[in-house]
Amino acid sequence: MKNIVLIGFMGVGKGSVAREIVKQADIVALDTDDIIESMENRKIKKIFAEEGEEYFRALERKVAHWLQKEVDGTLISTGGGFFKVPNLSKIGTVVYLYAPFETIYNRILAHPNAESKLRKRPLFQDIEKAKKLYDERAPLYRKAADVVIDVSEKSVAQIAKEILKKVKKDD
Ligand code: S3P
Repeated sequence: MKNIVLIGFMGVGKGSVAREIVKQADIVALDTDDIIESMENRKIKKIFAEEGEEYFRALERKVAHWLQKEVDGTLISTGGGFFKVPNLSKIGTVVYLYAPFETIYNRILAHPNAESKLRKRPLFQDIEKAKKLYDERAPLYRKAADVVIDVSEKSVAQIAKEILKKVKKDD
């Protein structure tokens, strides 16, 4: 089976959806941010602060290269900017989780750990800048995707089910 690659903006719920898919299907999941943090033995926030964004993007490209060469049949959740790696479509079926910016932001704020969810994301420190980034990326996510799932008014269980159905059909 091809990999399933979840892309989408920070806070849209790629991680939660990945964990739900793992519950519903016989599949193993990995996360590109987690891989980078373990390669570096430091948090994303620290990598950005100590090395800068371009260093982080180079690590994403390195992980993307490895995924393409070595990984199959896996559910891959990604950081919000990972979709820009040059070989994305070669990694697997790309699924874009879409929600309007306001929905994403309000959902983060409603979370009991809202503060730490925002703090750990260097590109979500300033809401104006985050909104600008969202507007720039929105059409690019769509362009990069094989499948678009609107996650706005759905439970994670519903979203996971929808993804599995779509991906099986396209396989
Ligand atoms: C980023 C999103 C983050 C993380 C890094 C950069 C981005 O992942 O990879 O802070 O460029 O959108 P999440 O989408 O899991 O927040």
